[in-house]
Amino acid sequence: MFGENNMEDTVYILAIESSCDETAAAVVRNGREVLSNVIYSQVPLHTLYGGVVPEIASRKHIEKINQVIEKALADAHLTLRDITAIAVTYGPGLVGALLVGVSAAKAISFATGIPLVGVHHINGHISANYIEHPELEPPFVCLVASGGHSHLVVVRDYGQYEILGITRDDAAGEAFDKVARAIGLGYPGGPKIDQLAKQGNPEAIPFPRAKVAENAYDFSFSGLKSAVLNYLNGCQMKGEEICQADVAASFQKAVVDVLVEHSLSAVQACGYGKFAIAGGVASNSALRAAFEQACAARGITFYHPSPILCTDNAAMIGAAGYYEYMRGVRHGLDLNAVPNLRLEEVNAPCD
Ligand code: KG4
Ligand code: ZN
Repeated sequence: MFGENNMEDTVYILAIESSCDETAAAVVRNGREVLSNVIYSQVPLHTLYGGVVPEIASRKHIEKINQVIEKALADAHLTLRDITAIAVTYGPGLVGALLVGVSAAKAISFATGIPLVGVHHINGHISANYIEHPELEPPFVCLVASGGHSHLVVVRDYGQYEILGITRDDAAGEAFDKVARAIGLGYPGGPKIDQLAKQGNPEAIPFPRAKVAENAYDFSFSGLKSAVLNYLNGCQMKGEEICQADVAASFQKAVVDVLVEHSLSAVQACGYGKFAIAGGVASNSALRAAFEQACAARGITFYHPSPILCTDNAAMIGAAGYYEYMRGVRHGLDLNAVPNLRLEEVNAPCD
């Protein structure tokens, strides 16, 4: 029978992720051990257009999804007969892109009877921390900073989140991408700013660090983005040369300062002594270094996934999917892509 492997206590999750521009599949054993992690990145394709083109992303996902799933099973030396459950990202993300992964997962589940578990993308990002830190268990505080989200959350239990702060406007990664475009670095912006900033002076330009009056844990990055654009316009009007590296380093420092300050005050207020980061921006070298230092100085244990597990991948969906499966979450073939799925909806009681 499919979905009933012989090894009693072993749960093999086949995970699928296609929410944006990576077509990814992975096999994860017992939530923490990655047996395979296949990522087909569409970055070179979208670079031509300076950003992700949703229609092109969906088409490419369709072309690649079966190959990626087959390779994930082959790399893990398993077949569908060994798989306990299929976990798939069903939101948030680009609707056409999500639909490809959801349809593939539903088709496999329908054909084999293997249980289907829909996973929230951000639950996946946070759960990437479980993969390389076997000792990490909730509760802890986590900062999620990606292209679409900036959330500061308390992880009460596996898949159980209390949101302390969110961004009021742009996500941190979105700010990186927009500023990179403005200074002529192109797409993908985050990694390019990260590299260039190493040669710049982070104190060169005093960009603002926004505070949100109503909630000290909320973020706002649109003012910072406008400040960079104003600075660039001002230089242009005065005929002054722009030092790209200084702009990159000063902008990055402003983002890092805000993320670190908000996160550490949340960690100290919660008193767990454990802090994790997640999402594409969590691979930023200056952010990681700043958190290493700040956490060490305060006796806080700092967790972060390897860069490849920070940006979109399916292993993280396998980790989250395992804990969802274990708490009884099962989805039917009516599972649909939900482009604006809220993190609060992860906590919904199981049927
Ligand atoms: O988590 P992710 O792969 O996709 C989303 O769920 O959005 O995050 C992508 C975001 C992009 O905005 C990208 O510019 C940013 O993460 N990013 C970085 C770095 N690597 C990726 N931002 C800053 N520094 C990096 N090294
Ligand atoms: Zn993501």
